[in-house]
Amino acid sequence: MSPLFLALIAVAVLAVVFLFVLRARSSPAPPAPEKYQLGDVTVETLRLYNGYDWSKPPLVAVKGKVYDVSNKYELYGPGKPKNAYAGREVARALALDSLEEKDLGADLEGLTPEQLQRLEEAVAEFERTHDHVGQVVPLREFTAAQLGLHDGSDPSLPLYLSIKGVVYDITKGKQYYGPDGIYPFAGKEVARAFALFSTELSDCNDNLEGLSYAEMDNLRDWIGKFNYKYPIVGKLVG
Ligand code: HEM
Repeated sequence: MSPLFLALIAVAVLAVVFLFVLRARSSPAPPAPEKYQLGDVTVETLRLYNGYDWSKPPLVAVKGKVYDVSNKYELYGPGKPKNAYAGREVARALALDSLEEKDLGADLEGLTPEQLQRLEEAVAEFERTHDHVGQVVPLREFTAAQLGLHDGSDPSLPLYLSIKGVVYDITKGKQYYGPDGIYPFAGKEVARAFALFSTELSDCNDNLEGLSYAEMDNLRDWIGKFNYKYPIVGKLVG
């Protein structure tokens, strides 16, 4: 092989390498992953974000502010040292530097100035390290009439329904329950209808009398599905 031919091959290889490097440099960086946003959440719903459901990030609340801690999975993931904090409000536990169940909560009663100082340092660390994704709100109480307002007739209100007195925000299922949906359940208590697989308005109530074992099983399945899919926002009273 002549030296000129070898030199030509070397130049061609160098040119290809150069083009590759240039392309790699000029290609845009991949888009940043979308930030998780939860919004208002009750302590009951927060508990589902304990790291054991792969479709939900582990979350921790400190003084009512909810943080996504999935970037510290080695601390908060299932079986990891601080998994007890995942899905919980932990202000008191942080102040006491405790992982005990009895110290989980937002109650700061009786803490010493040193413990409150430790909490403030921990809050600053959470702010630095984790994204703020929502806030803890109290479980609201609804009368049947108040629940009824959330039936989709006022588009400015979220859609709610209640199963055995537990009120779920079903807005993300509005294709089923909204004004254009096929199911008449928004704004109603639906335990009996769900157990019977009925869409009759007369079955939209919480009377479980006379239901068979299989029908009670249906209801349990629905509750499992709703706990998984929809946030709990309140309870039915009166
Ligand atoms: C011929 C009868 C029915 C068929 C073929 C049918 C089919 C379906 C399908 C395909 C879905 C969507 C499921 C999904 O995307 O996860 C759905 C949702 C639903 N169905 Fe039916 N359905 C029937 C009757 C009923 C009845 C009698 C009830 C009364 C309890 C009912 C209650 C619901 C509810 C509540 C949802 C929405 C669940 C959610 O929020 O994710 N369905 N149905």
